[in-house]
Amino acid sequence: MLVLGIETSCDETAAAVVDERGGVLSDVVHSQIAVHAPYGGVVPELASRDHLRNAEPVIARALGDAGVRLADIDGLAVTCRPGLTGALLVGVQLAEGLSWAAGKPVVGVDHLVGHIVAAFLSRPGVASSVPELPFVALIASGGHTALYRVDSLELAGVRELGGTRDDAAGEAFDKVAKLLGLGYPGGPVIDRLAKNGDPSRVAIPAPMPERDSLEFSFSGIKTSVARFVEKNGAPADVAALSDLCASFQRRMVDVLVKKTIVAARRERISTIVLGGGVAANRELREAMSHACALRELRAVVPPLSSCTDNAAMIAFAGVQRLAKGENDAGRIEVSPTTSLPRVTRKGRGRRG
Ligand code: KG4
Ligand code: ZN
Repeated sequence: MLVLGIETSCDETAAAVVDERGGVLSDVVHSQIAVHAPYGGVVPELASRDHLRNAEPVIARALGDAGVRLADIDGLAVTCRPGLTGALLVGVQLAEGLSWAAGKPVVGVDHLVGHIVAAFLSRPGVASSVPELPFVALIASGGHTALYRVDSLELAGVRELGGTRDDAAGEAFDKVAKLLGLGYPGGPVIDRLAKNGDPSRVAIPAPMPERDSLEFSFSGIKTSVARFVEKNGAPADVAALSDLCASFQRRMVDVLVKKTIVAARRERISTIVLGGGVAANRELREAMSHACALRELRAVVPPLSSCTDNAAMIAFAGVQRLAKGENDAGRIEVSPTTSLPRVTRKGRGRRG
């Protein structure tokens, strides 16, 4: 079975061809970073227009790289939520159109389910190990940060254990980078600077939620950095900037790792999976692997290309539904929110 995946939920136009076992035949990602960078964040209207310009050539390249034509594909999968409405509509309309023209089934996929199943992708020439079910997934991206218990690779098999009460982890990286004049997106540049910094130089207090809670709060960490800059002025040189980035990143990673371990313990699960753009962070990858090794837990840390936004993960999430004969053709709706039930609402703390 071959599935064409299409992803346009935010600032990456992506298409990929994946087989039923998660083998990646092609994976094309066109980044819009240059379009949004001057504004310090994603501008929704510009995102939609850029997706419109690039979606068709990106899809053509994904088919070409895989050495197949649309007629060879068994079905399509497209991100339909969560994301920017206008951006999502571009991908969904294209997928529906291709499905209609080629007479192939198409399914709508939740982007977060894509991040969760990304650990199952196998890429030619890239060593990766596949997790066994059940596992605890930490999905940390620019728009979402939550812990999930995953019993199967479909929507019904995924349960949120706790999420962020305020900023997503990637959002905190992006906001701190903006504050320090480091540009957008913030994660990769902070990651790079932190490498040469001393994480003990700046005291960043731990966030409020109780130690055993599975909810995150990152806005306080971001505010600590802002207060430090207010009080001491912007870092005078690269060394001071690196120390501040290292201190911020150490606190972020510490919280993410500790809560994930608490979740695994509580669920009595021994496999932990990382996903989402923040899972590309060097220190998070190392710290999670190290913390798991100490506790005889297994950490599955996918290659960078499977952590950041891509369409291969969307195609493989689609495989799970298409293989069962499901078809959403003609009735895929887009939504800014995830379809995964939440236990934590942003800004509202724990419900119920
Ligand atoms: O999953 P993703 O590619 O897109 C969303 O679904 O949001 O995640 C993008 C986020 C951005 O906030 C970016 O700053 C962050 O992931 N990110 C990182 C790193 N690479 C990307 N954060 C920390 N360290 C990194 N190396
Ligand atoms: Zn994402």
